[in-house]
Amino acid sequence: MPVISFANAKGGAGKTTAALLLATEVAERGKRVTIFDADPQKWISHWAELPGRPRNIDVISQITPASLTEQILDASASSDYVIVDLEGTENLIVANALSVSDLVVIPIQGSSMDARGGAKILTLISKLEKIVKHDIRHCVALTRTNAAVTTRALKAVQETLAVRGIDVLMTAIVERAAYRDLFEFGGGLCNQDPKAVANLGKARENAAMFSAEVLQRAVVAPRRRWYDVFKKAS
Ligand SMILES: Nc1ncnc2c1ncn2[C@@H]1O[C@H](COP(=O)(O)OP(=O)(O)O)[C@@H](O)[C@H]1O
Ligand SMILES: [Mg+2]
Repeated sequence: MPVISFANAKGGAGKTTAALLLATEVAERGKRVTIFDADPQKWISHWAELPGRPRNIDVISQITPASLTEQILDASASSDYVIVDLEGTENLIVANALSVSDLVVIPIQGSSMDARGGAKILTLISKLEKIVKHDIRHCVALTRTNAAVTTRALKAVQETLAVRGIDVLMTAIVERAAYRDLFEFGGGLCNQDPKAVANLGKARENAAMFSAEVLQRAVVAPRRRWYDVFKKAS
């Protein structure tokens, strides 16, 4: 079913965090999720070795540029959702993953550096759309925002995106200790101890709203449906 990739040509934009939040939210609702860990830092693979990984999340760490598209499309036939966590760069693996994605989420922190990394992915998507001959749906998720104040840098990024007519999720991912804790202690937000983590309830609410907005946009693209029929028949 839908393939959702997380991409920004800059590291530290919040791709891996956003990808894991989505995966654990979806898994909590009983769906089967496959995560492709295409980030050489392998944070999601490390997370998968910690206790508390939901049984309905599979993590695939072995990625090669030549086999990635096939691997992703095969996983999408057996999983409810495929989530791809990409490296903070532009390379063949990123291009291959984007070309078979039904939705690309571009996490951007409220800084001009991150926005430039996001713009590179937007340019890459428009080049790939000409090659694959269908639209590659994409949206920006603002990340690590301050729960209390909107900074000047964040406002500037929001205005630039609005001028370019880019789809920006209404829910920004707030800076929360609970999100960092997932990579320390494993599991999803539902496994964290509310006595040990500040604002866990708010973090859960924020992650649920973010995921709902992403899932609304994640519809299998027409070209992908054709591939699924072809695979079933072969
Ligand atoms: N919403 C957030 N709240 C708290 N920490 C965050 C959040 N998003 C990212 N981080 C932290 O910022 C760093 C970079 O985030 P990460 O998701 O690994 O980015 P990327 O995958 O784009 O390189 C990590 O240390 C991560 O724990
Ligand atoms: Mg990462």
